[in-house]
Amino acid sequence: MSATDDERHGRAPGGPGDGTPGGGRVPEGGDTARAGRTAEKKGTPDGGTPDDGAPDGGAAALAAARRERAVRAAVEQGLIGPADPVVGLLDVAGIRASAAGLRAAFEEVTAPGTPVLNAFAVKAASLVPVLRLLADEGLGCEVASPGELALARAAGVPASHTVLDSPAKSVEELREALSLGIAVNADNPQELARVDTLVGGPGATPSAPVGLRINPQVGGGTIEALSTATATSKFGVALRDEGARDWVVRAFLDRPWLTRLHTHTGSQGVPLDLMAAGVRAAYELAEEINTAAGRQQIDTLDIGGGLPVNFASDEESPTHREYALALRDAVPGLFDGRYGLVTEFGRSLLAKHGTVLARVEYAKTAGDRPIAVTHAGAQLATRTVFAPGSWPIRVTAFDPKGRPKSGPCVDQDVAGPCCFAGDLVAQKRPLPLFEAGDLAALLDTGAYYFSNHFAYNSLPRPAVHGFSTDPGAPGGVRFALVRPAQSVEEIVAESGGAQRDALTR
Ligand SMILES: Cc1ncc(COP(=O)(O)O)c(C=O)c1O
Repeated sequence: MSATDDERHGRAPGGPGDGTPGGGRVPEGGDTARAGRTAEKKGTPDGGTPDDGAPDGGAAALAAARRERAVRAAVEQGLIGPADPVVGLLDVAGIRASAAGLRAAFEEVTAPGTPVLNAFAVKAASLVPVLRLLADEGLGCEVASPGELALARAAGVPASHTVLDSPAKSVEELREALSLGIAVNADNPQELARVDTLVGGPGATPSAPVGLRINPQVGGGTIEALSTATATSKFGVALRDEGARDWVVRAFLDRPWLTRLHTHTGSQGVPLDLMAAGVRAAYELAEEINTAAGRQQIDTLDIGGGLPVNFASDEESPTHREYALALRDAVPGLFDGRYGLVTEFGRSLLAKHGTVLARVEYAKTAGDRPIAVTHAGAQLATRTVFAPGSWPIRVTAFDPKGRPKSGPCVDQDVAGPCCFAGDLVAQKRPLPLFEAGDLAALLDTGAYYFSNHFAYNSLPRPAVHGFSTDPGAPGGVRFALVRPAQSVEEIVAESGGAQRDALTR
């Protein structure tokens, strides 16, 4: 996928593919990220101004206009229609802008020469071309399973730009990651003991940076299921539990090669000050360990991801810059150049740039409630359907030609195709009345929608296309296939089609 000029404006040179060597005591890949920091600090691909820290109405309006053009062009170019009733769209310029904004945000707060690796949390959008696009913007990957690691590798993301986290790594996973030179964050004492065995004991030198995840136990946010720093969270070493802090300090002193601390306080619903408190706890522990060691043993702090996303409008708020500045206020010592940084943002990089477009198959009423029955429900918007209070999404209405629908708003349900009554992506939502053949657009679905498919009713994963402005393309929009739709044949194959007689033989 080649980028147009407006997409590339604001993009830094360098990136994983530029041959810049990683290495040293700092996060490998940080050198590349740093090399990429140039005068583009002040610009975004949309002409936005990330430096002012304010929500940028101009960039938001431009993104909305790009999305509307893409919906119309998707109809014109046959990406959606009666035979292909649901499709995913990704705004390439928007993704580039968010990646550039993230890089600029941490460049602004860190001392010159500080290595920073911004590793995209692959779980948020596990699509190889997306990982490649982000790598082109100087980002690496945070992976949490062998599958995610394979995707990062397929995207050409170098080991030095990849970090492995997960609460349940098998010995094989650990062995593979370490032998590839991928940074590993051990989750708990048992896992650290496995790493000991793999690297050859306390005196050995691992071929990859190794860290330890701590749970700072600073509390949760509004979505319990995504709050990873509660008193009883399953992640990391629970730092405030009796004896835990002493154990962690000892674990580092016993292992001179253990050089990183990792924390991730949570995701959507966690306020910035709580996220900052988690990072502060990790920083203070690192200082304590380095003092006890009499040297800068911990050279890198991995501060996780978790920046919440605004699902209520097109504004990107809070911004990466606002979070970076909040961190600088809360933990100034983190940015004085003694520590390299790893970040692991997922949702905040992709959410605003994705749209699910679904055809309204039928428009009916029940008990006076209008219901648009579409092809996008729990199979795509799983969290929204099962936890609508935590995961509301915006829905907009387009006519069959992909033009925004107008007319009086009517409270209506927007339903999916799954065979259970709760399969609703919006309830009593005031929208222009949907008719059969119209299109429902599910906005802000670029993160954790295309990658979290739920195979209910054996509904297929939809195709995903990236879109870019291109005056030469029909409708002024060029599409690039990111992932083909899952075929019925693939569903049969994945469902034991080749083992048909296995139970009756
Ligand atoms: C360890 C870790 N890092 C990063 C992330 C990404 O979080 P977010 O998408 O909210 O930025 C997650 C999300 O679950 C995570 O568990």
